Amino acid sequence: MTDPFAHDKQVAAVASAQFVEDGMSVGLGTGSTVAFLLPALAERRLKNLRCVSTSPATSALARKLGLRVDTFSGTDGVAHLDIAIDGADEVADSGWLVKGGGAAHTREKAVAAAADRFVVVVSGNKAVDRLTPPVPLELAQFGLASTLRRLGGVRLRDVPISPDGGVIADYMTPFDDPAELADRLANTVGVVEHGLFPPSMVSDVVIASGDRVETRTLR
Ligand code: A5P
Repeated sequence: MTDPFAHDKQVAAVASAQFVEDGMSVGLGTGSTVAFLLPALAERRLKNLRCVSTSPATSALARKLGLRVDTFSGTDGVAHLDIAIDGADEVADSGWLVKGGGAAHTREKAVAAAADRFVVVVSGNKAVDRLTPPVPLELAQFGLASTLRRLGGVRLRDVPISPDGGVIADYMTPFDDPAELADRLANTVGVVEHGLFPPSMVSDVVIASGDRVETRTLR
């Protein structure tokens, strides 16, 4: 199926590649927007670029394009990133994000948290007044039925187990306050990670509608 927003995603992704400079360590997100970022980044032929990746798909494409991908796992992994760039499912005016439509939100949040600057790249249709469900979840397999009972309103997603062994699901209940829901999800035993990202994590949002690019700087 053709993505009607592919052009906007590409325009935003190409614009975001300009944030990266020689010698930087770069976190690479996951998804169809990031798939446009990777060639744009590779084409810049920056010196001494080192990347970490949030999914096997991103690692494979990045390496194919000649980008160096280092490990982010274990005590020998990269501990700090200059920048991370990633897509999102929704970006609210408040700066809150929903991520994880591609089921990679646990790794995406870990990479964003390690970066001095987190640049979010979206097509204009994803800029919204208020966030809406689904909110992606990664859940521990152990105690899954109990976690689902305590959470309520969760639908399991028909996708493979995550590379870290988690069950992918979606919280489907509408919500008014993302901070309150993020707090509840983070404090529910059995939730490995949720797809709500706070504005404090985000430094810039690059939004493209047609060929028009808007960059919102949050910090
Ligand atoms: C991956 O898990 C997600 O967080 C993606 O960043 C998000 O779903 C956006 O995906 P697309 O760039 O494919 O729209």
